[in-house]
Amino acid sequence: MGDVGDEGFGDRIDALDLRLFDAIESQTSPHDKRSLLAVQRATRRLTGGYRYLEIGSHLGGSIAPHLVDPCCTAITSIDKRPPSQPDERGVAFAYEGNSTARMLALLGSVGPTDKVATIDAGAPDVDVAALGPAHQLCFIDGEHTDRAVVADFELCLAAVGDAGAIAFHDAPITYRGIAACLERVTDRDPVAYALPDAVFVVELGGFALHDDPYVADALLHNHRAYLAALLANDHYREFANGRPFRLARQAKARVRSLAARGRLGPG
Ligand SMILES: C[S@@+](CC[C@H](N)C(=O)[O-])C[C@H]1O[C@@H](n2cnc3c(N)ncnc32)[C@H](O)[C@@H]1O
Repeated sequence: MGDVGDEGFGDRIDALDLRLFDAIESQTSPHDKRSLLAVQRATRRLTGGYRYLEIGSHLGGSIAPHLVDPCCTAITSIDKRPPSQPDERGVAFAYEGNSTARMLALLGSVGPTDKVATIDAGAPDVDVAALGPAHQLCFIDGEHTDRAVVADFELCLAAVGDAGAIAFHDAPITYRGIAACLERVTDRDPVAYALPDAVFVVELGGFALHDDPYVADALLHNHRAYLAALLANDHYREFANGRPFRLARQAKARVRSLAARGRLGPG
């Protein structure tokens, strides 16, 4: 199925070869990487040639497979590069030495970077007109807050055109924002689903990535993404079941039970 005129790459993406991520560190799990490669494989099959937009690029790890893809004709990387970023997990995350120059140098070691355009800004400050023609695949992996992913999604909606897909990373963190994003596109008949471990896809305009065999299999076996998301948040349950909280809940239950018995008892 190496149908893209570059047998080496075509065979590797057809096989969802995780080594396509090897050159640059990416903040994604092996399952995330496989899901992202399947989304890329499906996009290239649907389009024959596509433009990729990413919000939150850090070192360029999630750009690298698109950089070497002959079907990817343009890449827009949007990254505000703040010294530290807020996060729904309640702590700010710092990215040491985070810069577009470093990312481009790393990408340059993977392949020519002339198809990469970079914008050092947050989504609300990006001039949509400057993005050029539609980007059929967008990936949101910037600030991990609900508010930011909604703003990022708005920009992607403007960039993606009539038919395309917008994917999110770390959906178990920004799920409320993603829910708000879906509300925003109810009139566009979206097809939305989670892929292991933490990728969430929104297809628009009949852009049927879900016909890809890996994606179809992941949807049939959706326990994988479901359990991965629950397990990613399991530490919150562990915390809520800590001794002080458990004792407080037990005391509350006892008071309720006594009150109910008082109401129901004779006299
Ligand atoms: C999780 S990292 C991206 C990881 C990358 N996609 C990968 O797979 O390796 C998040 C990136 O988002 C960027 N960022 C933080 N806040 C942002 C914002 N408000 N808008 C755009 N990018 C932001 C950071 O500078 C950082 O490079």
